[in-house]
Amino acid sequence: MLTIKVNDQQHEVDVEPETPLLWVIRDVLQMTGTKFGCGKGLCGACTVHFNGNPVRSCSLPVEAAVGANITTIEGVEENLIVAPSAKAVKQAWVAENVPQCGYCQSGQIMSAIALVKSNPHPSDDDIDTAMSGNLCRCGTYQRIKKAIKTAAK
Ligand code: FES
Repeated sequence: MLTIKVNDQQHEVDVEPETPLLWVIRDVLQMTGTKFGCGKGLCGACTVHFNGNPVRSCSLPVEAAVGANITTIEGVEENLIVAPSAKAVKQAWVAENVPQCGYCQSGQIMSAIALVKSNPHPSDDDIDTAMSGNLCRCGTYQRIKKAIKTAAK
């Protein structure tokens, strides 16, 4: 049995220690906002925050999350990230109508919040670098960039 803290709540989970955090979040905790894309750390769909930093939950064994603060998109919805960047990114995503199919957007938002939190006025290059690990098959990249700039104003 492992105890992990997700969205400010402790959860005891009966899983193998090497189980990817993504599957514990989705299948055990039933928080399905975090998505599975590639399972190899390449697409960013599974991005969550680990002590405030974006990580690929498909590539992180759950045992590595013991003692850490994990925040998912559900935590963003519940305003558990109190940094102004979280609110600004959420509002900008709506204002700029970013999603198309929406599948990658949880991961995009988690990466965008981390970016604006650490760099309140990112340049185009900063945005490209920070978001390069989050792929979008619908090609919403221009709207994502615009939303991040709106959030950073
Ligand atoms: Fe984790 Fe693609 S599902 S990076």
